[in-house]
Amino acid sequence: MKPVVLAGGTGSRLWPKSRAALPKQFLSLTSDNTMLQDTIVRLNGTKAQSPIFICNDAHRFLVAEQLRQKDIHHGGILLEPVGRNTAPAIALAALHATMNGEDPVLLVLAADHLIKDEPAFHAAIEKAEKLAEQGKLVTFGIVPDQPHTGYGYIKAGSGLADGFEVAEFVEKPALETAKGYVDSGDYYWNSGMFMFKASRYLEELEKYSPEMLDVCKRAIDTETPDLDFIRVDHDIFATCPDDSIDYAVMEKTDSAAMVPLDAQWSDVGSWTSLWETAEKDENGNVSVGDTILENTKNSYVNAEQRLVSVIGLEDVIVVETKDAVMVAHKDDAQSIKNVVNKLKAEK
Ligand code: GDD
Ligand code: MG
Repeated sequence: MKPVVLAGGTGSRLWPKSRAALPKQFLSLTSDNTMLQDTIVRLNGTKAQSPIFICNDAHRFLVAEQLRQKDIHHGGILLEPVGRNTAPAIALAALHATMNGEDPVLLVLAADHLIKDEPAFHAAIEKAEKLAEQGKLVTFGIVPDQPHTGYGYIKAGSGLADGFEVAEFVEKPALETAKGYVDSGDYYWNSGMFMFKASRYLEELEKYSPEMLDVCKRAIDTETPDLDFIRVDHDIFATCPDDSIDYAVMEKTDSAAMVPLDAQWSDVGSWTSLWETAEKDENGNVSVGDTILENTKNSYVNAEQRLVSVIGLEDVIVVETKDAVMVAHKDDAQSIKNVVNKLKAEK
């Protein structure tokens, strides 16, 4: 099994720590390792081969340096000149993996997830690998605890030896729909990790998005190794349709399967989810760095450069960095995206 690590996201909901130059997957938010490093370190004990990484060209030295720090041997670092979302990124990795005539099972991983129960994760990978060997496109399903609209939803179909058929896959449904799914008890969240033979992904992409596959083939055909890096042709890849694997393939394929995953997974999508997964003090607070909290409850405070003091507040998020301070209500942490969009518009 060959891991493919998707490291090209922007992580804008974790601003002001996560920046265009240093997105969240390159930060140490949940342990001493960066999230990228933990993505590979947590596979220790599995039969994973050297992983393929795919990231934006601008982050190539960050990736190479973070892998070097942990002595991680890679099977190629693919560099996207522009982001075209996950469906083409995975296609490039699958094409790279099959270039020498091999057809490995790929374990597609996001570079910015937290999975606390590693033995449970490893057990799920073993089950998924069996299904992938049979030609399935395997997802990992999480039992939902709220109608989150930022996730894909998977309806479990008939049982298989190692999981379930997927009766329905719906990416990012509207809130009312998501509520119905959660209430029904029949749906799982899509964790955003996948397992399939490289050839099976390429076949399904050919079926549902032939233009995308064609662009990716041409963009990597001119593949030029540059030290550790494999560059994807700018002019060709710029013409690639922008789409995620969830919409482009998983909603459409008849070959999807799902293995339930109960491993304390979190996609660390926002400061609120970081607070939720972290160890709290007796007042429900999580504080990082030089902080003093008085009469403060259920809050997340992260001080990078200066002493930060919070008094008489509940449910707040305070993140201080060298050049920006962000204060938010814990229930509105998703709106940080809007601030980032405003900042982009001002540039
Ligand atoms: N190389 C590369 N290129 N990586 C990318 C790109 C890209 O253009 N865009 C995103 N990624 C990486 C991100 O860094 C992240 O690790 C992963 O791909 C998933 O992208 P997100 O943008 O975070 O996806 P999402 O959170 O909206 O939705 C996905 O994950 C959810 C679970 O966290 C979907 O798979 C949902 O169905 C799922 O529920
Ligand atoms: Mg995500």
